[in-house]
Amino acid sequence: MIKTIEYIDGVVRMIDQTRLPAEKEFVDCRTIEEVGNAIKTMIIRGAPAIGVAAAMGVSLGADSIEATNFEDFYRELEGKCDRLGQSRPTAVNLAWAINRMKQVTQDNKSLPINELKSRLKEEALTVLTEDITTNQTMGEHGQTLVKDNSVILTHCNAGALATAGFGTALGVVRAAVNAGKNIRVMANETRPFLQGARLTTWELKEDNIPVKLITDNMCGFFMNKQEIDLVVVGADRIAANGDVANKIGTYMVAVLAKENNIPFYVAAPVSTLDLSLASGKEIPIEERSSDEVTHINKKQISPEGIEAAHPAFDITPNHLVTAIITENGIARAPFTDSLKALANQK
Ligand code: MRU
Repeated sequence: MIKTIEYIDGVVRMIDQTRLPAEKEFVDCRTIEEVGNAIKTMIIRGAPAIGVAAAMGVSLGADSIEATNFEDFYRELEGKCDRLGQSRPTAVNLAWAINRMKQVTQDNKSLPINELKSRLKEEALTVLTEDITTNQTMGEHGQTLVKDNSVILTHCNAGALATAGFGTALGVVRAAVNAGKNIRVMANETRPFLQGARLTTWELKEDNIPVKLITDNMCGFFMNKQEIDLVVVGADRIAANGDVANKIGTYMVAVLAKENNIPFYVAAPVSTLDLSLASGKEIPIEERSSDEVTHINKKQISPEGIEAAHPAFDITPNHLVTAIITENGIARAPFTDSLKALANQK
């Protein structure tokens, strides 16, 4: 299995997703600041993987604190957590993981500082292992929606690389394959960062799962020809009403799926739900550098000085979503009720 991220002997090691598939290189982070930078520069990306990296980053941050009493220790840790929390705005898993680590710190305030640091390391490793089992359970639920001989369209990379392992949308694909179903994947290339072309095709090829790469503007053509049976994507944040923030272009895919009567599924762990937000309108959308649009692989493709926009995510309104697959089960409309019920399930 691909190891997206590991935490060994005070080092957080990540596969460098900016260099795949051409080079399989690893980046070692030894401080919380280095982890924050890896998230910002997308060495590691994908909502659940960002959450796992953040938990490990908080542990590294805790290890570097020299304070000997809890109050000073916690004050310093909070400052580090606040800065880490600003590395990317849309994926709620970042804040989720940081809050979980802060809560564990508070819950163990009576421990000597050294033992508290060990407890935080243990928690970060638990976040990693839980993410993998969460994805496997989600996959099991999701694969019940997939018929044998299906062609599944996906957008961006919601696979092992976007998580601690197995994946969310690609976890559904993997679970269907493991159940003996004959599955083929169509991967949107996902301009401008090319997560589909570079990462989804790479990890499916590693697992011998058939995949065909298409450019984003081709998916309507194949839907209209009835060559796509269902769409499964991941999510960066899901509001209480079921509006879904995911990689830019997801909304376009959902509209095309509706037009062509193709089911549109979102696979995401409960940690991606943000029930404090009533609708997708409140989800912050990251604006990334326009250089990522005017350039491909550092080569400029538009004339010098051209203005370009780069919202990195969009919102798919809940009426375009057939169902949301979580580790606690499958939610359908009305999402305000079904998501709340799944979120509260232990
Ligand atoms: O900008 P990215 O690559 O971090 O965006 C990732 C996505 O939009 C994924 O679809 C989402 O995080 C779900 S990953 C399981």
